[in-house]
Amino acid sequence: MTPVIFAHRGSSGTYAEHTRAAYLQALADGADGVECDVHLTRDGQLVCFHDTTLERTTNGTGDVADHTLAELRALDASSWKGVDLPEGYGEVGDQVLSLADLLQLLRAAGRPLKLAIELKHPSPSGLRLEESLIAFLMDEGWDPESSTLGLLEVSFMSFNPDSMHQLAETAPHHLLCQLVADVEPQEVRDALRFGSIAEGALINVMRRALKEGEELIDRQEVGMAGPGVQYVRDHPERVRRWIDEGTRVRVWTVNTEEDALYLAGLGVQELTTDVPARIRLALDTR
Ligand code: G3P
Ligand code: CA
Repeated sequence: MTPVIFAHRGSSGTYAEHTRAAYLQALADGADGVECDVHLTRDGQLVCFHDTTLERTTNGTGDVADHTLAELRALDASSWKGVDLPEGYGEVGDQVLSLADLLQLLRAAGRPLKLAIELKHPSPSGLRLEESLIAFLMDEGWDPESSTLGLLEVSFMSFNPDSMHQLAETAPHHLLCQLVADVEPQEVRDALRFGSIAEGALINVMRRALKEGEELIDRQEVGMAGPGVQYVRDHPERVRRWIDEGTRVRVWTVNTEEDALYLAGLGVQELTTDVPARIRLALDTR
């Protein structure tokens, strides 16, 4: 069985992550679906963005949550990548996309696609992100029983077990994906800015979330597990057990042929990658 392929933040190995160019490239690369991180803006809009802050991927500064969607749209979200955009994208760079923009782009493809939405936590908005996302999808015509929106199938991912519990009230069990990653102190330092919380305390919070996430998967309270590649390599028996027990496993971020073949051999059913064309070729020519 060939694993389902998701383009991670679009084809983000080619174009700047979460931009129109990256998502259109994902469709051209033959991805089965796309992954998208979401945050809430100051004016309550859902925006496709990975980091909590703007500096790495735009010419703006400060927190995403402190800006309105209009302010974010005015930023250049692609020049940092140093790659020329396809013709028709202009010279100022590609814009930050709202989740509504992404839905429109995917629907315009006119073929069945999968959309994996990652709710970014810890979030200053608490579980307001979950409520806003469900309300937004309902508004767009999402069917909570099948989790479909026309030809799109929507799944939900988070590192935060509370997020899974909240979403389980509305979304179907088989499309809830608990993300897991071993806690690396350096990554914690790089990824999170937690004003008053000490680093040691934050690492403990993350370790607790990891343990709770693993237990939630073990108890099959969600239908999917989302480990990183390194996690799978460190705990292959556990991941194999999840698969044997009927949990679907979606692994991120699978960018080498070697990793893709290893994971397919282990029986992993879904892969998320920055380079879908490379991974598709590796799997199809096994
Ligand atoms: O697909 C899950 C993966 O995206 C989680 O990590 O940091 O890339 O959002 P991150
Ligand atoms: Ca993500």
